[in-house]
Amino acid sequence: MCGIIGYIGFKQSLPILMEGLRRLEYRGYDSTGVALIENGKIVVSKKAGKVSELQSELKNYSSPSTIGIGHTRWATHGAPTDANAHPHKDQNGTIALIHNGIIENYQTIKKKLLAEGHTFQSETDTEILSHFIGSLYEKTNDLFTATRLALTEVEGAYAILIISSKEKDKIIAARKGSPLVIGVGENEMFIASDATALISHTKKVVYLEDGEIVQISNNSFITKTITDEEIEKQVHELDLSFEQIEKSGYDHFMLKEIYEQPDSLTNSLRGRVLLEEGDAKLGGLEQVSDLLKNTNRIIITSCGTSWHSSLVGEYIIEQLAGIPVEVEYASEFRYRDPVINKNDVILAVSQSGETADTIAAIREAKRKGATALGIVNAVGSSIARETAAGVYIHAGPEIGVASTKAFTSQVAVFGLIGLLLGRQRGLQIDKGRIIASELLSLPDKIKKALQSADEVKQIVNEFKDSSHFLFLGRGTNFPTALEGALKLKEISYIHAEGYPAAEMKHGPIALIDNKMPVVFIAPKDMLYEKVMSNIQEVRARGGRIIAIANEDDHEIDEFAEFVIRVPRTLSYFGPIINIIPLQLLAYYMALARNCNVDQPRNLAKSVTVE
Ligand code: F6R
Repeated sequence: MCGIIGYIGFKQSLPILMEGLRRLEYRGYDSTGVALIENGKIVVSKKAGKVSELQSELKNYSSPSTIGIGHTRWATHGAPTDANAHPHKDQNGTIALIHNGIIENYQTIKKKLLAEGHTFQSETDTEILSHFIGSLYEKTNDLFTATRLALTEVEGAYAILIISSKEKDKIIAARKGSPLVIGVGENEMFIASDATALISHTKKVVYLEDGEIVQISNNSFITKTITDEEIEKQVHELDLSFEQIEKSGYDHFMLKEIYEQPDSLTNSLRGRVLLEEGDAKLGGLEQVSDLLKNTNRIIITSCGTSWHSSLVGEYIIEQLAGIPVEVEYASEFRYRDPVINKNDVILAVSQSGETADTIAAIREAKRKGATALGIVNAVGSSIARETAAGVYIHAGPEIGVASTKAFTSQVAVFGLIGLLLGRQRGLQIDKGRIIASELLSLPDKIKKALQSADEVKQIVNEFKDSSHFLFLGRGTNFPTALEGALKLKEISYIHAEGYPAAEMKHGPIALIDNKMPVVFIAPKDMLYEKVMSNIQEVRARGGRIIAIANEDDHEIDEFAEFVIRVPRTLSYFGPIINIIPLQLLAYYMALARNCNVDQPRNLAKSVTVE
């Protein structure tokens, strides 16, 4: 969602804020703004559009200010205009506030403020919050107290930063449902939505929890709960390097992340595959091993790409361990009053670890007495902290808005979990060894699949003006089809649908004509012959067939107009290999159609609102 950065210290704040906003822009990019305290006054600069637009407007502006806050927005209330951009001031212009989240009861608060004579410049819920805090500030004369009292009446989700021209030596910050992390420097402090904005300044960080409010000065911070209890916070050391979040010579983060997959997968598997024992070792699950041995049901919950990998996880765990698995969109799970038993295990899957719906699903499961575990990429994120135990996928920072390496690493981690649970429940050692050895071979197979880029470019050339695409697959490659379609639509804006290949004849077949490109994911597995029949059905109706097939499959050449070849693997891991050309297809299609690959319209990397 939105990206937030704050600085207080001894350096000029504006360049630090602008650099931080550039790093956070993947979180939201429809408008940008900063507020500084300059000569005792709040000075706000904001603009609809990307960070670069505000930056060029401010290029000749050098401010002596050493305290400020900055925001990059993903609109929820009100269109992306200059007026709706954050920061927002209060009625007197004494404070400036930035916000990531949604204030659900803003209409009620607005009514009270209107009755007191307040007037508003924007359509945002954030401006209402700013006025509300401002009105309490007039009475209390203490920004920390005014903010705390206001937040006791606020419903919804927020991460906020506030500065005041009357208290020039502090930033007040608070969180509920949206992330915030403090960066601790030498006589300077930073605060941001995530560590990518801090890493070039400090590795010492403090994570704020929901319901906490903090007063930050240049060399200390005081944390309390919204209900006024003092809390001690722990300083953590970040295990993330500056190079890890740079583009390393690639044109886009997405391309870098696609090509990183042999390494990211190696990192996901490192030290976790026991080849000789035909088993897996997952330290993060050891403390819940009894629960895992005894559970009768696993519910996997997640959103978007993580939901697609969860579907693959269902196949893997059911087939290797024989445990019934259900997969559910977190946004549905949280509200449908699901039946949950005490020894059910809830597995929450999330790259960012901050997805609001997934967090809410975890809380719902915990409220009903189940144990929630996480499969998470972002270390120290909210989901990692809210779950009893879990597995980090160790894919490294994913900055491109379209998720790529997180998907392959999530599937690999499901492979490890399936192997571990399977071996506990009677999976034979020989089969375990085959799976373990196949897992270890995947990074090299991804390298080979990446060599398909030239063929993919030819396909892009042929179909770049298409308005629709169908993606079809069976078994574990049904989720691959869903993920291939999601990648294409989100960055190239081509309408794409993924279906189980056999389901096509129950409806989507009506769409097939000689303008419809149909991507079949057709590895040589036990469903190959079935998929070949589905290919014939599409061919008979003039559809244009693109096949993702195995290196040694030449039978398919006769039926497909384009064939992309990838190495063979076990069907459990097919998605890890077969998604690679589909990620490249989405990437090169977006380039050919002049779309902004790393910042597709209307999307945000981390969806921290409902
Ligand atoms: C698609 C994409 C989204 C995310 C979804 C869940 O490319 O990135 O669909 O997968 O918003 O995000 P996480 O995994 O961070 O919970």
